[in-house]
Amino acid sequence: MDTIYINGGRPLRGTLAVQGSKNAVLPLLAAAAAVPGKTVLLHCPPIRDVAVTRALLHGLGVSSCRHGDAIELDAASAVGTAPDAVLAGQLRSSVLLLGALIGRHGSAEIPLPGGCVLGARPLDLHLSGLEALGVRVVCEDGVLRCQGRPSGGTVRLPYPSVGATENLILAALGAAGPVCIHGAAKEPEIRDLAVFLNACGAQITGAGTGLVRIMPSPLHGASHRVLPDRMEAATWLCAAAATGGCLTLTELRPAHLRPVLEVLSRAGCDVTETETALTLRAGALTAPGTVVTGPYPAFPTDAQAPVMAALLLAEGLTRIEETVFENRFRHVPALRALGADIDCTGRTACVRGVKALHGAALTATDLRGAAAMVCAALSAQGESKITQAWHLERGYGQLIQRLRTLGAEIWMEPKQSPTRRTTWNRTESGRASGEP
Ligand code: UD1
Repeated sequence: MDTIYINGGRPLRGTLAVQGSKNAVLPLLAAAAAVPGKTVLLHCPPIRDVAVTRALLHGLGVSSCRHGDAIELDAASAVGTAPDAVLAGQLRSSVLLLGALIGRHGSAEIPLPGGCVLGARPLDLHLSGLEALGVRVVCEDGVLRCQGRPSGGTVRLPYPSVGATENLILAALGAAGPVCIHGAAKEPEIRDLAVFLNACGAQITGAGTGLVRIMPSPLHGASHRVLPDRMEAATWLCAAAATGGCLTLTELRPAHLRPVLEVLSRAGCDVTETETALTLRAGALTAPGTVVTGPYPAFPTDAQAPVMAALLLAEGLTRIEETVFENRFRHVPALRALGADIDCTGRTACVRGVKALHGAALTATDLRGAAAMVCAALSAQGESKITQAWHLERGYGQLIQRLRTLGAEIWMEPKQSPTRRTTWNRTESGRASGEP
C-alpha cells in the first residue's frame, strides 16, 4: 500500500469489531521466545509489525504459523540470541527481545531498534534496569550486547516507560531471585503481558500498577487472547467524529479508552457504552479545551494525532500538549495542507477550528500521524492523496476495506513497495500468509 486516495466529506456510519492490540501482541510475541514450549496467541491483528516480528522470531529458531487470527508459536528448541539486524531495524518493539533472550538464555545481541521517529527514544531506562539486575550491558557498533542471568533485586524506573517495564518483566522471568519493579508503566498492555506469562507458569503480581513483582518460576506453553486495540478504536472514533458520523465499535474495552472518550464527549459527541462495545454519534463539534498526553491512565500519546485530526473543524481553540515524545507533531504540516489552522510551539499545538477542509496531496510520516491524515482527509471536501501510506500497514489491518464498510470513499494505488518492505517480503516469504 504505497498511495491511497480519499474522497472526503461523507459521514462514517456503521459497526466495526476492533482488532487485537498492536502494542499488546508485539510484547506477547517477544515473550513467546522466552517460553520453552508451544504458545497460541488468539485475536492477532493482520498487521505488518506482527509479520516482521514473526520473521525475527523465526531467525532465532521460534517457529510459527498463522491460522486466521491465531498464531501458534513453538520456541521449545530455539537457541538463537542475535536477531536479524535489518528486521530489528524496522521495529521499536524488537528491543523487547533483549529481555526475552536474557531471561531465557542469559545472553542477547540486539541491533538498535527502529520504529516511528518520534524523538530520541533512548534505551537508558531499559539498560540501567537490566544492569541493576546484574546483567552486563555493552553497546558497540550499533549492537547491544548483554550477558549474564539476572540476579534478582529491585529496579526503580524514574519514568514509567512502557518498553522498559516490559523488557524488565521478560528478563526477570529467568532471574535467580524475586524482582521488584518500582515506577512501572501501568498500560493495559503490560497487564495483558503478565496475564499471558502467568498462564505460562510465571508468578507476576501487580502488573498494571506502579509496582510489579516477579517470582522465579518454570515456564510452559499456554494459549492467550490478545487484548483489543484501544489505539485502533480511538482512530475509528476520531474518524467518525471528524466526519460527523455514527459508529458502533464492538469487541473492545471502553474502560481503556476513558481519556479519549472524555475529550470526544467534551467536544460534543454523544457516547453510549457497555462493557465491551460503544456507540459514538457526532454532530457539529466544539473545541474541548486542553488535551495533555501522558503515561496511562492519562490521555495516550498514540491517540494525540488522530484526536487532533478530529478537532480541526471544532469551533473554538483546542490546546494539545504532548508530554511523552518530543517529536510527535510531524503530521501537522499535512493537516495544514488540508486547510487546518494549527500553531505549534515546542510541545504545544493550538488548533483553531476552521469552517471546512479541502483535499490535498499528503505524505505519511509515521503510523499514528498517517492515521490522523486519513481521519482529516475523510472530513475534507474533495480528493486527497496520501503517499508512503505503508506506514498504516504497521498498525491497521485491512484499513481500506474496513473504512469502506463505513461508507468511506477510499482506494489505493498498488505500486513498488519501499525498500524496507521488499526486505521484509523476501525474508518472510512463505511464512506470513494472510498478513499484509
Ligand atoms: C510504547 C508503545 C508506543 C507508545 C508508547 C507510549 C509499543 C510497541 N510501543 O513505546 O506505541 O506510543 O509506548 O505509550 O507498545 N524513554 C527514555 N528512556 C528509555 C525509554 C523511554 O527516556 O529507556 C522515554 C521515551 O523517549 C519517551 C518516553 O520515555 O519520551 C516514553 O517511552 P516508552 O513508554 O518507553 O514508549 P515505548 O515503549 O517506546
